[in-house]
Amino acid sequence: MPTLIGPFSQVLTMSGIPLKGPVRHDDLEIIKNGGVVVEDGLLLEIGLFEELHKTYNEISEVSGSRVAMPGLIDCHTHLIWGGSRELDFERRNSGMTYQEILTRGGGIFDTVSKTRNASSDQLEKDLIERSMRHIKSGVTTIEVKTGYGLTGESEIRLLRSINKVSKAAEADLIPTFLGAHVCPEEYRKSDYLDYLVKEVFPVINTESLASRVDIFIEEEAFPAGIASKYLGEARENGFDLTCHAGQFSAEGVGVAVQNGTRSADHLESIGENDILMLAKSETAAVALPGASLGLGMAFTPARKLLDAGCSLAIATDWNPGSAPMGDLITGASILATYEKLTSAEVLSALTFRAANALGLHDRGKLEAGMKADFISFPSPDYLEILYAQGKLMPSEIWKNGKLM
Ligand code: NIG
Ligand code: FE
Repeated sequence: MPTLIGPFSQVLTMSGIPLKGPVRHDDLEIIKNGGVVVEDGLLLEIGLFEELHKTYNEISEVSGSRVAMPGLIDCHTHLIWGGSRELDFERRNSGMTYQEILTRGGGIFDTVSKTRNASSDQLEKDLIERSMRHIKSGVTTIEVKTGYGLTGESEIRLLRSINKVSKAAEADLIPTFLGAHVCPEEYRKSDYLDYLVKEVFPVINTESLASRVDIFIEEEAFPAGIASKYLGEARENGFDLTCHAGQFSAEGVGVAVQNGTRSADHLESIGENDILMLAKSETAAVALPGASLGLGMAFTPARKLLDAGCSLAIATDWNPGSAPMGDLITGASILATYEKLTSAEVLSALTFRAANALGLHDRGKLEAGMKADFISFPSPDYLEILYAQGKLMPSEIWKNGKLM
């Protein structure tokens, strides 16, 4: 039976906005005194509450001023890990660089050994806890990368855990294989990537553990040449592609575009040519303000990317090293103040543009037929969401049409 939910002071549908380029307030469809009709986990109709009331008698009433909008999508996280890295944070703030710590066997390698030593029970418990924290802040879809196993066996174990937790969790977890995070010291880089392709891809495919492959393109991780070969092989094996590019050097954006990755993530260190190249392509740019804040580095040039005509998504990059905060709205609203982004641009980057970066087209907008994942904030005006810099939390969250 269809249920009418509302009334909401404002319903932000995010409908009718292009995938690429700047977005202004006037581009938003805002339904005042709106209602949302859901049935069988999907959206059936969105419109004026009073009009919908004439057709639908099953009502789930919402009291007080509320802004409704699509559930947030965090399209880039490293949410499954063991241990913690507060010592790295202190070391960086005492003058060491992220890359120095990494090349001395710390950083990511430190988390790798703690993750390998953690039980699956513990890893899954922590993953559930982190995703619960995310859901409470309005994030209903969470991409989760592996990358702290770095052996076939331990990477597969992480993928199995993500899939297991996804079935039980309230949010949708989208697994991504990041076996190519950094190279374990016992391998030559190209041999390690060959090993992933030959030995690990087949297991992922046979067990349907992930449909996406990521690689960290950087001199200290995997240089452009071999990264490009790996991405080509991942595509031949049927995977969707994404990559970490342009974080510390511009390396990687060309590789992303040439290989048609769905997104190129980070981009803090890119130049004008990279921006133009991305704008001409279908590859989405993903800004990760939490990593800029965690490392004390420049923000991704989000304003320039949008003005050039790119599709911009914003994600947390939540991980124990570069981005420990893991707060999507706080990070996005800080990025907005430094990069001069409108609320319309940021909310696009957290909803349908983030969905597109994941290759998902069933969420991120409030339109008939889409998944009924939506949230409401206790405010009469959507502008308050980013203005409060993360301190305005959603008061209601509907996942697949059900109030949580
Ligand atoms: O996206 N840059 C590579 N990977 C992560 C950091 C992982 C870590 O430091 O543990 C990132 O920033
Ligand atoms: Fe990352």
